[in-house]
Amino acid sequence: MGLEFNDAFIQAEEHRPKPYISEAGGIPVIDLSPINAGEGEAFSGLVAEVGSASKNWGFFQVINHGIDGKVLERIHAAAREFFALPLEEKRRVRRGEDNPLGYYDAENTKNVRDWKEVFDFVTSESLEIPATDEPGEKRTDLFWNQWPEYPPEFRDVFEEYSKEVEKLAYKLVELISLSLGLTATRLSSFFKDGMNFIRLNHYPPCPEPQLALGVGRHKDSGALTILFQDDVGGLDVRRKNDGEWVRVKPIQNSFIINVGDIIQVWSNDAYESVEHRVSVNSERERFSIPFFINPAHYTNIKPLEELTSEENPARYEEYNWGQFFKARKNSNFRKLGKENVQI
Ligand code: SIN
Ligand code: FE2
Repeated sequence: MGLEFNDAFIQAEEHRPKPYISEAGGIPVIDLSPINAGEGEAFSGLVAEVGSASKNWGFFQVINHGIDGKVLERIHAAAREFFALPLEEKRRVRRGEDNPLGYYDAENTKNVRDWKEVFDFVTSESLEIPATDEPGEKRTDLFWNQWPEYPPEFRDVFEEYSKEVEKLAYKLVELISLSLGLTATRLSSFFKDGMNFIRLNHYPPCPEPQLALGVGRHKDSGALTILFQDDVGGLDVRRKNDGEWVRVKPIQNSFIINVGDIIQVWSNDAYESVEHRVSVNSERERFSIPFFINPAHYTNIKPLEELTSEENPARYEEYNWGQFFKARKNSNFRKLGKENVQI
């Protein structure tokens, strides 16, 4: 049995998707081909494009990113085959109280249930997070990926993909670093021992697409997200200049990139993490596969010195990423002198 619609999925009226959401005037599309040049006019142009998209949208789509379309076909097929398994089979790798990694189909965003099922894994051997939410606590818990038995190629396909998408993520982090006026490697150093995740999302056809959402409105709390989506469409981004929801047009073999809260804090609001959500439809199931690049659990996050000054003082208090991750379900990160921002 799959998801069954009930009241838990119903969004408050003001958060329901309008019947038609336009793809026009959507997020910028950036051609990454100049990336390998490392310098020159085309490369500086690319850095500038990444900078203005990050500032004005918090989101952009990339083409010519160097990951072969065949790799994307393989991850799409493996995700499809996994979610097509009987529920008992998927539950053999379900996440539990004691391990956040694996399969689950019940998740709320802002207290309303999402119309989706999910499989999470980390790209390193294991996930290390603080054992308690207490500041200064040194003990950590260690979690391992749970790989399904079917489809048999699942693990290999995703381990290959992890390596490729991680390389792309590092290149994007360098471009973002340069676009903020920092050295190319200023941000990369935070990602040693990073807590990088891959999430497989499956949004089955929904009988009430006007009442529910695949994922309710939210901002991503990590550093950067690199998302593969299929050709169905449904990701809506809150446009910064007018606050309207705009649908991201699927482009074959592209990725959607968005900056998360960590980059917002490092950049002291030069780049803001932008709200987005997933609309569903009654006809077609949709698959999406985000990769989240995050620092190591022991990293303390605060505005970078180079990006603050007497005229532009730090707007955030320092926080510990691992503790934040552990506690984030009911936590805030503190914006100095302003209201707390809910993640
Ligand atoms: C998410 O932002 O959580 C999912 C995005 C998507 O499925 O497009
Ligand atoms: Fe998201």
